[in-house]
Amino acid sequence: MSVHKQEPKKITTHQLQEMKNRGEKIAMLTAYDYSMARLIDGAGVDVILVGDSASNVMAGHETTLPITLDNMIYHAASVVRAVRRALVVVDLPFGTYQGSSGEALRSSIRIMKEAGAHAVKLEGGSEIKESVDRILSAGIPVMGHLGLTPQSIYKFGTYTVRAKEEAEAKKLLDDARLLTECGCFGIVLEKIPASLAKKVSESIQIPTIGIGAGPDCDGQVLVMQDMLGITKEFKPRFLRRYADLDTVITKAVTSYVSDVKAKDFPNEDEKY
Ligand code: KIV
Repeated sequence: MSVHKQEPKKITTHQLQEMKNRGEKIAMLTAYDYSMARLIDGAGVDVILVGDSASNVMAGHETTLPITLDNMIYHAASVVRAVRRALVVVDLPFGTYQGSSGEALRSSIRIMKEAGAHAVKLEGGSEIKESVDRILSAGIPVMGHLGLTPQSIYKFGTYTVRAKEEAEAKKLLDDARLLTECGCFGIVLEKIPASLAKKVSESIQIPTIGIGAGPDCDGQVLVMQDMLGITKEFKPRFLRRYADLDTVITKAVTSYVSDVKAKDFPNEDEKY
């Protein structure tokens, strides 16, 4: 009798397109390490984003700007080792693709080779077209990211909703069309009006994945630490918390500390 466990069918960019075509929503979450990636992959998430939000939630920086390509490769490789089913998309960090398309390609190749990732994500539209074209020409799948693009936070000045004005909304729609024509397999839409996200999702063929972009995107993404209630101080309107791990973890650690202090841990059964 064979005891081999059946491996789940891997999610591909082609399957994401089929999901959009048949109206099935895409579930995406971030992960940055082996243990969490194993859990969320096993729970059925379709896409795992190794986001540069690792700079905030893993390293404690105020913005996503400081994280390096080496840092991202370390996080991504840990995630890839855990994943059996989900498509793993990795953010190109700030400063590793804006300089030239050659640099963008070299950064992407490192992510694919050294981490074993399945795709890369870049922030921006027409400004990064050359880089997107060059990466795609090497056979690397590319995901776009429009709306609130946190790597440009010092240009925006705030994390408020983007593209409320007509001119910015028009540019966003044009950029979404451009990225689609270039051959991107999907676009993240971050913090834009729901009506605009609906219009973009209906106007382009490829899947849109929203975060703070309303219910009409083809999929949704959240930062895992936020949806699990680990980052309690972060409370944007779009965030739904599915757990209160801050309380759970604090309670568990408080109990452990008090057991150690009280000489209650380890007990007779917990020693050799
Ligand atoms: O870095 C990240 O986590 C992201 C998501 C917010 C989409 O880009």
